[in-house]
Amino acid sequence: MERRERWHSKLGLILATAGNAVGLGNILRFPSKAALYGGGAFMVPYFIAFFLMGLPLMIIEWVIGRYAGRHGHGSMTGILGLFFNHASWARVLGSIGVAIPLLICMYYIYIESWTLGFAFLSLFGEIPTPIKSSDTQEAVKPYVNFFREYTKPSVIAYLFLILTIAINWFILQRGVRRGIEITAKIGMPAIIIFGLFLGLICLSAGNWKGLEGLKFIYNLNFSRITDPVVWIEAAGQIFFTLSLGMGAIAAYASYVYPREDVVKAGIWTAGINEFVEVVIGASIAIPAAFAMFSALAIPELAKEGTFRLGFMTMPAILMSFPFGKIIAFVWFLLLFFAALTSSLALIQPLIALFEDEMKWEHKKAVNISMILVTIGAHFSAFIPNFIDELDFWAGCFLLLFFGLIEIVVFIWVFGIDNFYKELTMNTTIKLPKFFVYIMATVSPLFIVFIIYFWIIKDFENIVFTTEPTKLFARGFILLFILFLSIIAIKSRTIIMKDIRYLKLIKK
Ligand code: TRP
Repeated sequence: MERRERWHSKLGLILATAGNAVGLGNILRFPSKAALYGGGAFMVPYFIAFFLMGLPLMIIEWVIGRYAGRHGHGSMTGILGLFFNHASWARVLGSIGVAIPLLICMYYIYIESWTLGFAFLSLFGEIPTPIKSSDTQEAVKPYVNFFREYTKPSVIAYLFLILTIAINWFILQRGVRRGIEITAKIGMPAIIIFGLFLGLICLSAGNWKGLEGLKFIYNLNFSRITDPVVWIEAAGQIFFTLSLGMGAIAAYASYVYPREDVVKAGIWTAGINEFVEVVIGASIAIPAAFAMFSALAIPELAKEGTFRLGFMTMPAILMSFPFGKIIAFVWFLLLFFAALTSSLALIQPLIALFEDEMKWEHKKAVNISMILVTIGAHFSAFIPNFIDELDFWAGCFLLLFFGLIEIVVFIWVFGIDNFYKELTMNTTIKLPKFFVYIMATVSPLFIVFIIYFWIIKDFENIVFTTEPTKLFARGFILLFILFLSIIAIKSRTIIMKDIRYLKLIKK
């Protein structure tokens, strides 16, 4: 078996996985969801979902990632295979876990390119100057038009898309250690510094009127505790923000040394991510909107979606501050760094699949992966509804489904005792066995419960459509999963040969 790469240092490993988890989800998706579902009322299910499902699943993915890495696998195709003697069906099922992050990446990278484009345009004063108005619609209008023009896409937008793809390509070509790890070592501190800076500016805006926004989020209350929609959204946010349910964390964890303390690493990853979400993420967009407009404007703004908040409302607010151009530049740069360290992580599982299962050399694995990303990104840019369809199917539906499969396989099929042995191996934090029982029962029940309510709530509305662009996107998703399934089956022979060979030398 070829030697797989390893992370260079403990710090690098933690920063890289934190970079994986910290993304647009923390800084854009979180505040919009919190605003939309009632601030403090959203936070109660959010924290419950974090402790009952998010943290356990994070630790499961770390433990399994280390275990799989020891056996030479980093992609879900190989990892699920590992638990079923590389049966074809298991490898095919695992392919869904490789498809999800790549499908997400196909639109994520396009949004990432907007952040880079907007950063430059802000710096060079190419985005609209603000209109002084207390009417939110009025104040945001020039930015709405600007955004529409930009995402048509304009030539500039296209150039930034190509540039963003090239940056990702270049970094991934340098590999785990010299590419991803170094990027995270620069990116993560930058995210925290820029984030704290912007948080301070937004909270203090309008003579600390921004603090009202923070109060809105942290005024915890149980008023919507019985509303299934709030639970679904809170749980969905936990999955998304922690990068769970798609083997992206496991893929990074597969590059640790066998003696690495993965429990500690998992807790650090989740901790840093939550810091950037509930402290930094909470202190920027919502407080800024509170400071600028009235509290009534908040749900109004959030309703229009995540992108509106980041690319229209935020520049409208930030540009009206003193040194607005610089502040808007920092905002988009923050988004760019957050997105970049995540998009790398979204592609790595596919690279791991090509390298570990097909035994392709690194260069070829990266090139083929990036060609696929580039094709998908073009669809995102030029086909209407493509982004939303991918976001729904890969970024929500398949995610919950695959998260459930992960728990069933890694705990039930692997066996509670085996898992517990793996969990307590080489770690200073000896979690009680009770914790595994929670992972084995409460976490999956929680997911089943959410899927159930979600299906009765709006499955029908979403699933039935005759809209050709949506059908195209769905066809594309199926075709992509099919493609990865074929690879999963074809590579099986290579892996089996490896295993036979290993047995032979052991004898
Ligand atoms: N966690 C990322 C964010 O908050 C998004 C994401 C979801 C992701 N799944 C992932 C990133 C897998 C990398 C790998 O924006």
